[in-house]
This record gives sequence, C-alpha cells and structure tokens, in this order.
Amino acid sequence: MKISIIGSGYVGLVSGACFAELGNQVICVDNDEKKIKSLKKGIIPIFEPGLEELISNNLKNRRLKFTSSIKEAVKASELIFIAVGTPPLKDGDADLTGVENVARMIAQNMDGYRLIVEKSTVPVETCAWIKKTISSYIKKKNKFDVVSNPEFLREGSAINDFMRPDRIVVGVESPKARQLMMQLYRPLNRPILMTNIKSAELIKHASNAFLATKISFINAVARVCDKVGANVKEVAEGMSLDNRIGKYFLHAGIGYGGSCFPKDLEAFITIANKLGYDFKILKAVRDTNEEQKAFVIQKIKDALWIIKDKTIAVLGLSFKPNTDDLRSSPSIDLINYLQQEGAKIRVFDPKAMEKARDVLKDIVFCADPYQAAKGSDCLIMATEWNEFKELDFLKLKKIMQQPLIIDGRNIYDPKIIKKLGFTYIGVGYGKE
Ligand code: UDX
Repeated sequence: MKISIIGSGYVGLVSGACFAELGNQVICVDNDEKKIKSLKKGIIPIFEPGLEELISNNLKNRRLKFTSSIKEAVKASELIFIAVGTPPLKDGDADLTGVENVARMIAQNMDGYRLIVEKSTVPVETCAWIKKTISSYIKKKNKFDVVSNPEFLREGSAINDFMRPDRIVVGVESPKARQLMMQLYRPLNRPILMTNIKSAELIKHASNAFLATKISFINAVARVCDKVGANVKEVAEGMSLDNRIGKYFLHAGIGYGGSCFPKDLEAFITIANKLGYDFKILKAVRDTNEEQKAFVIQKIKDALWIIKDKTIAVLGLSFKPNTDDLRSSPSIDLINYLQQEGAKIRVFDPKAMEKARDVLKDIVFCADPYQAAKGSDCLIMATEWNEFKELDFLKLKKIMQQPLIIDGRNIYDPKIIKKLGFTYIGVGYGKE
C-alpha cells in the first residue's frame, strides 16, 4: 500500500519503518528540514533498539522515503497517517494546532480519495474535528474517510510492540475505510478491534490512564509497606497471581515518567472536566506520582541528615531503560531537587548523557557507574538499566565516601546488599 506518515517523531518513525518493513511504500514527513536531512542518511534523532537498522535497510530497498513536503506525500499516498506531537498546554489540555494544520494541508493537496488515519494521542472528538476541517478546506469534491488508530508502542521495545501488538484498535465509520485498514494490518496476524471512532479515541487515553493507575496504586501500597515493615515486592507478587489483576505494571519505585503517562493523564482529566465529569481517581493517581518523588527525597534526607555539600551519585537519567528519552524523567526531577538543596551530583547513564547535557547544569558526567560513585555519600539507582543490575558492590564500597544505596527502582536484593556492608534503602521494604 502507498502510505504517508506526517510527523517523524517516535510514533511516526517507528510506524513508518515498520510499515515499510512489511512491504508497503512509505513516505515519512516532517517540517524539521534538518531532521529530514539526517534521516535521509539513515541517522535517527532518538535511541530506540533496532530502529536505525530498520530505517537504513528500508531506505536501501527504496520502500522508505523522507521528505519535508506534505504536498508530495499527500499526492503519492492513499493512506495518510497523522502522527504529529500533541504537547500539553498550560491548562493540561493537548495542543492540537499541529493536527489541525496537517488536516488543512492534506485537504488542500488531495487529488482523489484519501484515508486519513489519526495516530497521535488526542482527546476524544478530535477525529470529528479533523473531518470537519478537511471538509472545509478541501478543493474539489474528493472523497475521504477519517479513522482513529491509536498507537500503544512503548519506548525501548517499540518495534516489537508495533509488529506484535496485543491488539490493534481502529475506530472506523465507512466500509471502505474498514477494508483498507484490514488490508493494512492483516499481515501482522494480531487481534484487530474495530470500534466507533470516539471509542477508539477513548481506548488510548483510558489504557494509559489505567496503567498509570496501577503504578500509583502499587506505589501507594509501598508507602503502607514502608510503615509496617512489609515487603512490597511480595505483596505485588501475591496480588499478581490473581489473573484478574495480572503481573504487569505493579513495580513500585520513584514513580512513572515519560512522554506519555504524565501528559495523557493530564489531558484525560482536562477533557473529562470539559465534558462535565470530575475524574477524581486520575487526580489521585497524578498526585500520588508526584508525592512518590518527595517520599524518596525524604528517605535520602533521613539517611544523610543534611543534603547540602553532600556528593550524590545518580545511576540512570532516562525515564526508563533502553531509551535516551528524558521527558518527565523522575531521575531528572530528583537531581533538580537535590541540586536546589545544595548537593553535588555525579551521574552516569548508558545512552541519555548527551541529551542530559542540555537539561542538567553544574553536574559531573561520568564514564561509568564506578566513576560516578567515587567519593559519593550516597548512590541513587534511578533507572533500572540491565548493566546496573550486576555491579561490583565491593568495589563500590571501597570508592564511596559512605556505603549508602537508595534503590529507587527496587532492583537489588536488600539482604545481599546489606550483607556486603551497605545501608540499603528501597521503596516499600520498611524503615531501615
Ligand atoms: C507508555 C505505554 O505503555 C504505551 O502503551 C503508550 O503507547 C505510551 O506510553 P512508555 O511511556 O514508553 O509507554 O513507557 P512504559 O513502559 O509504559 O513506562 C512508563 C513509566 O512507568 C516509566 O517511567 C516506568 O519506569 C514506569 N513504570 C512502569 C513503573 O514505575 N512501574 C511499573 O510497574 C511499570
């Protein structure tokens, strides 16, 4: 099929590369000319395992093209995906300027039937607005359909999530659009759920909000565990053996971050509010996530007494492992707070250091975890990269000023770490 993807961010690039890999003819568009120039050479602006290879292979076999011209893309493709950013506005609402702009440009450049597929995470009723916008700006009486096709990929495992999704959701109104979407996704051989458009739009926000709720729930349980000396990992395991609860997203820690959960939750609260519903549960989810960082900071204070002039090593900067994305990263929030309190910070992250140089100032960037830990009063495990799971703790103990580990992601076995002579503080294991 001939496909254009407008917006070459995370979702756009991964979708474009994967559709090309499946044998389609794909044009990826972005208005950032510098980005397009690099992409044409196969240089990608983000770290995502496997993506660079997928893009360069499909550039070579000419199934994938990059351009900054929406006109060229719209003329060449029957299916046009909208995958532009929807950043948060001050009131928490999603900024849909980019989506509206693209809808107008599609309308002005269409020269036959087009299927417009909305993939950006947007509030319910956006597709109706896209439809209205295209109808208002369309030149000739060209026919078109709009469908909602939310994307559920996770950073760090995006290609696998795209190629082997648990489900594909398509909000659709016309038989032709339905048939085209079936044809597009049939090769993946995964469950395809066809719904009405508004339901599909809501499925995305409801899914992300539910996952965030699970995380805040277990983080709240961790707070209670801490007070009574129960072990949150055991509690989570006991809960997860009930199939109705499931084992995923019950990992307590310093809270969720990333480009989706905080933004989507806020947008969902705002849209519900505008529609006349006060989504109290989600407000509590958001507040619990914020409190979680304060709770970890308090643990550091309890252990170090005074933070001013203490040297603190932070392992991990990205909001989760296998990505260099720093957006709403709890690690960055912790560092900012500790710096305000006068701490000296030393950091190491396997992939996110370059991006971190733009957002963190007066900080020592180190070549590995040991260099970061050297002379430090405390080591904070902030992002659970695999390479942090098996550190040489005896070496760490020798080079640290004080043997204190704050395990913000609960990846170490407290008994083992304590046996090695460290003070170990996790999230939800009881007061040390
Ligand atoms: C999320 C959704 O999972 C995905 O379906 C959607 O398309 C985009 O948003 P992503 O932001 O890439 O994906 O990361 P995810 O793996 O969901 O993790 C989000 C945050 O939650 C991370 O900061 C992670 O560390 C945290 N998390 C996750 C926990 O704290 N505990 C858990 O048990 C799981």
